[in-house]
Amino acid sequence: MAESMQGLKRTHRCAELSAANAGETATIMGWVQKNRNKGGLVFVDVRDRSGIIQVVFEEGKSDAELIEKAARLRAEFVVAIVGRVEKRSGAVNQNLATGEIEIIPEQLRILSESETPPFPIEENSKTKEEVRLKYRYLDLRRPDLQRNMMMRSRVATLTRQFLAEEGFLEIETPVLIGSTPEGARDYLVPSRIHQGRFYALPQSPQLFKQLLMCSGYDRYFQIARCFRDEDLRADRQPEFTQIDMELSFVDVDDVIDVNERLLAKIFKEVLGVEVQLPLPRMTWQEAMDRYGSDKPDIRFGMELCDVTEVVKDCEFAVFKGAIENGGSVRGINAKGQGGMPRKKIDKLVSFAKDYGAKGLAYIAVQEDGTAKSSFAKFMTEEETAALIQAMGGEKGDLLLFAADKNKVVWDVLGALRLELARQMELLDKNDYRFLWVTEFPLLEWSEEQNRYTAMHHPFTMPMEEDLELIDSEPGRVRAKAYDIVLNGNEIGGGSVRIFNPEIQNKMFEVLGFTPEQAQEQFGFLLTAFKYGVPPHAGLAYGLDRLVMLMAKEDSIRDVIAFPKVKDASDLMTEAPTQVDQKQLDELGLKIVE
Ligand code: AMO
Ligand code: AMP
Repeated sequence: MAESMQGLKRTHRCAELSAANAGETATIMGWVQKNRNKGGLVFVDVRDRSGIIQVVFEEGKSDAELIEKAARLRAEFVVAIVGRVEKRSGAVNQNLATGEIEIIPEQLRILSESETPPFPIEENSKTKEEVRLKYRYLDLRRPDLQRNMMMRSRVATLTRQFLAEEGFLEIETPVLIGSTPEGARDYLVPSRIHQGRFYALPQSPQLFKQLLMCSGYDRYFQIARCFRDEDLRADRQPEFTQIDMELSFVDVDDVIDVNERLLAKIFKEVLGVEVQLPLPRMTWQEAMDRYGSDKPDIRFGMELCDVTEVVKDCEFAVFKGAIENGGSVRGINAKGQGGMPRKKIDKLVSFAKDYGAKGLAYIAVQEDGTAKSSFAKFMTEEETAALIQAMGGEKGDLLLFAADKNKVVWDVLGALRLELARQMELLDKNDYRFLWVTEFPLLEWSEEQNRYTAMHHPFTMPMEEDLELIDSEPGRVRAKAYDIVLNGNEIGGGSVRIFNPEIQNKMFEVLGFTPEQAQEQFGFLLTAFKYGVPPHAGLAYGLDRLVMLMAKEDSIRDVIAFPKVKDASDLMTEAPTQVDQKQLDELGLKIVE
């Protein structure tokens, strides 16, 4: 039977006590981590979100009834304990923040009992994630997840503080809206009052924050929930949180400046990490050429090397064909991996194929200086030697080559470079390497839709010096768009926005919108722009991704209290669920079997 806590008041969290409190009486409340009964001597570890403290029920110090009660405690019982803090009589536990002290109890109340939990509440759980997510409320008791949630809260608090000090206003934007053109699929909410019509959940507050600039709020931010119906991965959830901001009367450098200082503050105060400012910047083109990725991980080298010129006259059909088709041949040098067994190389080849490669050519430079190569027979010895030299190949190196259209070559080698870095253990989670990637292409050709789509969104400003290309070579126009990348993850992105109606109309034209379609989708924004719109720009972080990296986790699920799994369902509530026929009728909806 549960006892009440009446008359008691918690004085400390468990791990807030230390040797400095020795001799004081404290009241703690928490969960029983474990209970060791040594006959007349019962050790109970009590846990709350601050940590664990040991309580010792001992003959001669506590009365017999109390010791008997303590012996009945089991894991996850909720208890209140009043007792005296003492320096440990036994050995100090170095692994515990409270390892120097223990509590000698005067009172024990069992506030709530617990059935045996489906898995132990412990750090670095070995329990399968599906089980943990089904009982997420228990999983969230584990110290590693509690630390993550506390860190997340701290990041949000610091963000609010910093941005408020910088003159930003926190303004909420609606969640039931018309669809925003962020590129992913919308989550739709049927309207009961307007049957046959739907709200969309925001993919981001993009249009509203631009409207707030039109309304004169000049610096806005919001910690905003966003919804995107897209395929999930370790760094993607259907609902996620952005730190979203927009600023008026600014250009690229102003946005970058305030955000660098925000990041530096967060990393300093949460992790004690000094971020060196200004952060490095790289254009999109350079990122692709050197790393095969628009979010390069710059913690290690292994950069791409364009060898098109070196191999252009050789007889190897794969290389020749790619070059003749307007593509390129590029390679990476996996230092010291020349001894890699054939089986492992074959795995790399199939890895490359998963990223669209037709194959992966390689040269392993042997210790005796000779070359073991998958395409030696198509090359002269001189050609092979020239290729090795161009790649900076030394004894013991493994050189890997992809030949194809540039986009395929970048994707394949960019991914391979990361895979090799993982295998070679080059990725240190304590090493935080930020990078701004700038000058993204404005447009991206979509084979599927047979037209250009906006790489960022249709409101992103082209670079002034490229405006003249917009009709003749739209694919070459660069945008005033920037991403902030951390250790190979895109943690945020933004752009300077178009505020000139002529450029905006041109943009819609290039994207294949008729003026009517543009008016229909974004009419309110275009109209707002007719009444005095300031130049403006903004950025949004994925808060989940940022905290994931700070917490050194591999999945954003580990920094979200109640995440969804790969098929976008919630294993605990079982959402999405079926609804009553009555609800469907009210909404005028019919399920097609
Ligand atoms: P963007 O679409 O780049 O820009 O989103 C900004 C950041 O949000 C994070 N993010 C996600 N995190 C988890 N799960 C997802 N499904 C997901 N999708 C995106 C990423 C990304 O960098 N309105 C613009 C911002 C602007 O221009 O100001 C926008 O939403 O970390
Ligand atoms: P093949 O002549 O098909 O046996 O190919 C010889 C070598 O070239 C093999 O190692 C293939 O994996 C590799 N290869 C095939 N296509 C490509 C490509 N597009 N890029 C790089 N290497 C390739």
